[in-house]
Amino acid sequence: MRVGVLTGGGDCPGLNAVIRGIVQSSSEDTEIIGILHGWKGLLTKETRSLDLDDVEGIHILGGTILGTSRTYPLKTPEMKKELEDNIKELELDSIIAIGGDDTLSVAAKLSSMGYSVVGVPKTIDNDVSNTDYTFGYHTAVNVGADAIDRLHSTAKSHGRVLVVELMGREAGWITLEAGMAAGAHLILIPEFPKKIGEVIEYTKKRMAKNGYMIIAVAEGFSPTDIGKYVGREDEVDAFGHIRLGGIAHYLADIISEKTGFDTRSIVLGHLLRGGTPTAFDRILGTRYGVRAMELVNKKDFGRMVALQGNEIVSIPIEYGIATKKLVPYYYYQLAELFFE
Ligand code: F6P
Repeated sequence: MRVGVLTGGGDCPGLNAVIRGIVQSSSEDTEIIGILHGWKGLLTKETRSLDLDDVEGIHILGGTILGTSRTYPLKTPEMKKELEDNIKELELDSIIAIGGDDTLSVAAKLSSMGYSVVGVPKTIDNDVSNTDYTFGYHTAVNVGADAIDRLHSTAKSHGRVLVVELMGREAGWITLEAGMAAGAHLILIPEFPKKIGEVIEYTKKRMAKNGYMIIAVAEGFSPTDIGKYVGREDEVDAFGHIRLGGIAHYLADIISEKTGFDTRSIVLGHLLRGGTPTAFDRILGTRYGVRAMELVNKKDFGRMVALQGNEIVSIPIEYGIATKKLVPYYYYQLAELFFE
């Protein structure tokens, strides 16, 4: 049996643990074919076979040994044909697709076309539905919390307002939990937009009382009065998402202008996605990989693995991508208790 494995979309810590879990738990009669650069590798036929030696110790490494890309391989009839021809030529009996909603939406489509596909949910933003956590998220929260921890002393020494931007396109999980863990004084996430005026009021109040302030803001936060993302609207990926980034600078400029406080902005960005995964993410990735291989062996296709409670279960791929798992209001309210 030949099983293709690919990693698509933004990288995150824990991907290599999944790949290792798949290879390590495959039986002797199974050949694991690593498809390079996500779905793109199926269009270009860039592959490498993976054996035990190739995955030795890789679970502690960040990124993905297979490379990744944001490629929509069904964009045109020609691409679709190329993809189907190549699956045949590479003699792939099944494919394990490790990725977020974009990658998994392609997996679901291929499954509906009759291909044997298993999905493994991956997103640093932790917004795949029906799974409690995706690997990489825990690492990102730790890196974010550590960065905010460090910013307290410099903000306090200078009596400054520091606006810290973290990843999170539609879901503010990373910003909320890193901000809560590190005691940010105001947390701004896409799910619960505020007006610029409210942000200014919070800032004035906090500065009058405590003399310094840290605001954690998700890249996808959009103040209700501007009503759109801050980013590069001219740069759109294969799945139609604009390149986000810059809300921290935007807010810092307005805060400085309206209040006169010495204000700086810091963008953590890809730092949150880099480096070695936490023990939690290494284990979660490993469990996902092993379970994905089990599904292939049982020919239980069209499904993705998911963490529910402490169990790794399997659910139809569509259940993971139908809606985004967003921060619920009761949780944001809990965080709000600690603002100021
Ligand atoms: O989708 C995950 C994510 O990390 C988002 O939070 C962020 O907007 C985006 O990827 C960044 O993408 P890229 O790595 O292509 O710049």
